[in-house]
Amino acid sequence: MKEFKDRVAVITGGASGIGFAVARALGRRGMKLVLADIETVALERAVARLTEEGFKASGMVTDVGDRAAVEALADHAWSRFGGAHIVMHNAGVAVFGPLQSMTDQDWAWSLRVNLQGPINGVQAFLPRMLAQGEEGHMVFTASFAGLVPNRDLGPYNVTKAAVVALAESVHKDMRGSGIGSSVLCPMRVETAIDQSFRNRPAELGGPTANRSYSEEERSQLQGRALEVDPVAGLVVDAIIRGDLYIHTHGEAQVYVAKRAEKIQESFKHAL
Ligand SMILES: NC(=O)c1ccc[n+]([C@@H]2O[C@H](COP(=O)([O-])OP(=O)(O)OC[C@H]3O[C@@H](n4cnc5c(N)ncnc54)[C@H](O)[C@@H]3O)[C@@H](O)[C@H]2O)c1
Repeated sequence: MKEFKDRVAVITGGASGIGFAVARALGRRGMKLVLADIETVALERAVARLTEEGFKASGMVTDVGDRAAVEALADHAWSRFGGAHIVMHNAGVAVFGPLQSMTDQDWAWSLRVNLQGPINGVQAFLPRMLAQGEEGHMVFTASFAGLVPNRDLGPYNVTKAAVVALAESVHKDMRGSGIGSSVLCPMRVETAIDQSFRNRPAELGGPTANRSYSEEERSQLQGRALEVDPVAGLVVDAIIRGDLYIHTHGEAQVYVAKRAEKIQESFKHAL
């Protein structure tokens, strides 16, 4: 997708971190912005900031795990700005800890936000974008963990691998339709993701159910911690080029190659 001016971008998890940075970057390209987030106050602040900076922005409190709410978000994009051209499925949460410590609620919350969220986004937006008949693009925020699992992030790894597959499926099925798909696969980025527990609903354990990273565990995470703005720049560039994969950290390449090598090697036992 190359034309941004006066087109509409919808970004879930847009009130902070990567989502907010991408919203600004797309605003600078002349797009109208719809931010969706579960955090009311942060969302109001984000929309106010974008508006002050001269962008056309609107916010809608949305739980991406709620299918009806995501449908209402699409209604909002069409009624407020007349359509949606870029949809970024970005809201996400992380629960840290070894698999044996994961509760059913840890799994349920991770699956609901990280996987059902983007599925709801595809269900609500893709048919409408096709019917709109204009160029469009979906961006899925997965993670490096969706390509190579991180230790002690089981449910996160599983949901992010599925998000990679979802982005690849959109890419394949939409070939020739004018709708592109990209999947963002970062290692660490400086955001509030480590405080995801702030949004954990009571019926899925509430904020205190999350185990936090210790400083030692944090220091063992692979990759540098990047700032959000250069990451947002990579997202915009990838949309323009129509790239499927968006890698942020050069140091991730060796791990992806090692995984691919292991898969290749195992074929020697195949029938
Ligand atoms: N920061 C990193 O190191 C990193 C690395 C790889 C991938 N990611 C992914 O990037 C995405 C954005 O996260 P971030 O790092 O900017 O963190 P963040 O916490 O700053 O942003 C996540 C946003 O999602 C919102 N959110 C949470 N649950 C929601 C729900 N049910 N419905 C709607 N909104 C909800 C939060 O309120 C928040 O504004 C996530 O999908 C995350 O998994 C982050």
